[in-house]
Amino acid sequence: MIIGIVSLKGGAGKSTTAINMAVAYATKGYKVTIIDTDANGTCIHWSGLRPENMPNVMCVALQTTEALRKNIKALYDGCDIAIIDGTPAIDEKTSTIIMLSTLFIVPVLPSPPDVWATKIFIEKYEQVKALKEDIKGYFLVNRVDERKMLAKQIDEVLNDFGLPVLKARLHDYTAYENTLLNGLGVLEGSNLKAKNDVIQLTKEINKILSL
Ligand SMILES: Nc1ncnc2c1ncn2[C@@H]1O[C@H](COP(=O)(O)OP(=O)(O)OP(=O)(O)O)[C@@H](O)[C@H]1O
Ligand SMILES: [Mg+2]
Repeated sequence: MIIGIVSLKGGAGKSTTAINMAVAYATKGYKVTIIDTDANGTCIHWSGLRPENMPNVMCVALQTTEALRKNIKALYDGCDIAIIDGTPAIDEKTSTIIMLSTLFIVPVLPSPPDVWATKIFIEKYEQVKALKEDIKGYFLVNRVDERKMLAKQIDEVLNDFGLPVLKARLHDYTAYENTLLNGLGVLEGSNLKAKNDVIQLTKEINKILSL
C-alpha cells in the first residue's frame, strides 16, 4: 500500500498524520517507510529523534518529483506500507504523489482559510483525476475543537467538494506536538483521547484498504 498525504495549505497536519499512521502500522508489525518529500524535512527530523527501542519506522527524503518517481518502486518493494508526506502545494509533485498512491488523504483544518484553499486544491485535483479515474482520496479533518461552529459544519462543507470525508477526526491536543518532539507518535504517549483518534483513523483506513 502507498498512502499519500497531501494538501495545498501548510500546517494542515500532513506530517503529523504521516507520522502517526506510520507509528500505528509499525506497532502492528508492518514494515513501514515514510517518504518525506518536503524540504522542511519534518519526518526526517522526527526520525532522528526517535528512540531506538521503539518500533522501527524507516524514513527517507525524496524531494524532487523525478527522485520520487525513480525510487518509489524500490522503496515500496522493501516494505509493507509506504507513506508519502507531501508538500503544501498543488504542483507536479503533489499530482505525482496522488498518482502513485493506493489511497491519499487530505488533512484540512476546520478554519475558513483552509476550507477556501481546499476548494482550490480540488479544482486542480480534478485534472489529476482525469488521468487516473480509480483514485481513492479522503479528507481528514484535523485539529478539531468540537465546541467551534465550523468543527460541526465542516463535513457538510467538504462533502460538496467531491471527496468523501473520513469519519475519524484528529482533535486539537498538545499530545500531537509533544510526541513529535520526542520522536514518538501519540499512540506511544499518554493522551488516551489522542490515541483513540489515531486508532479510529487507522481502523477506517484499514477498512477502506481491506488490510
Ligand atoms: N491534531 C493536532 N493537534 C495539535 N497540534 C497539531 C495537530 N496536528 C498538527 N499539529 C501541529 O501543527 C503543526 C503543523 O502540523 P504539521 O507539521 O503536521 O503540518 P503540515 O501539513 O505537515 O505542514 P507543512 O505543510 O508546513 O509541511 C505542528 O506543530 C503539529 O505538531
Ligand atoms: Mg509537513
